[in-house]
Amino acid sequence: MQELELYNGYKIPIIGYGTFPQREVLEDNVPIAYNEGYRMIDTSDNYLNEAYVGNGLHKVGDSNITVITKFSQPLRSKDLEECFAESMSALGTKADRTIYLLHWPFPYLWKMQWKAMEDLYLTGKCAAIGVCNFDVGYLKEILRICRVKPMINQFERHPLFQQEEVVKLCKNENIQVMSYSPLARMDNELNANETLRHIANKYHKTVNQVILRWNIDTQCIPIPASSSEIHIKENIGVFDFQLNEEDICAINQMDRGKRVRFNPRTRFDKKSKKKFLLQRLRLSNTLIAKTIDFYKKQKIR
Ligand SMILES: NC(=O)c1ccc[n+]([C@@H]2O[C@H](COP(=O)([O-])OP(=O)(O)OC[C@H]3O[C@@H](n4cnc5c(N)ncnc54)[C@H](OP(=O)(O)O)[C@@H]3O)[C@@H](O)[C@H]2O)c1
Repeated sequence: MQELELYNGYKIPIIGYGTFPQREVLEDNVPIAYNEGYRMIDTSDNYLNEAYVGNGLHKVGDSNITVITKFSQPLRSKDLEECFAESMSALGTKADRTIYLLHWPFPYLWKMQWKAMEDLYLTGKCAAIGVCNFDVGYLKEILRICRVKPMINQFERHPLFQQEEVVKLCKNENIQVMSYSPLARMDNELNANETLRHIANKYHKTVNQVILRWNIDTQCIPIPASSSEIHIKENIGVFDFQLNEEDICAINQMDRGKRVRFNPRTRFDKKSKKKFLLQRLRLSNTLIAKTIDFYKKQKIR
């Protein structure tokens, strides 16, 4: 398997197997993916499938597979290390093959969470740490405050939504780009696209394979998900051809800002702010109640 090198020296496979939203079937699909050649699996604590991935990995029995999991628990921010230990135990992976990512930039929380991620990495509990869904603004902020720079940024990226500014900043900072929803969840616009069809015909490949190859040829790691053995095989059949400059330029021009997933900045901004204010309100109510209680007791005495 072709690899790239993270800035800390970790050798990471150039393609990974995405597992959302599969559950039990992963006990069979992880070994299928392994047999087809995948050497990296992407999961998360909130996919509720880590134990199934773990059982699949156990069947495979190769401890050199890179496993990516994520911290996604805004209500357990202070227990990040405990959450990580739970993930590790479900997955049954080794520290030196485990990559831990912060799933979303929750405003008010992500800085505290990143500090705990850094502690995990600095104490040797995982091979690499990174973030997901960090746009240019969040990236600049983390670069300003971090002790350990993220090694990876995983975000939505496909021909219809390329996030070129984020890619550029990551490349300048030596942060590895990882593309999720690389097939745009099979958006009809992609498969029907004339440019992609033309390139696919030229190489006797499918449109999906061309899209995955475009990621690889632009040094971005795609993590396509599939529950079908045929698709799992098709998606890794991308190492017997290479796109030329002209093909890459043509695909680069297909960007039209079309997300297939939610925008993490707007989605969490509102929710987190509300939650944060509620927490503060609850805290001040508790303080007021405690103060009243204190003075009442003083009076009684
Ligand atoms: N960090 C984050 O916030 C975040 C967010 C979203 C996703 N992710 C990760 O990224 C992975 C991939 O993203 P995704 O699942 O959103 O989108 P995706 O990989 O673009 O698309 C998955 C869909 O495409 C279909 N598919 C895959 N290969 C195919 C093929 N060769 N031919 C026809 N259909 C095919 C799959 O159906 P079949 O099962 O029928 O093949 C599935 O419905 C996830 O599994 C997850 O691990 C991370």
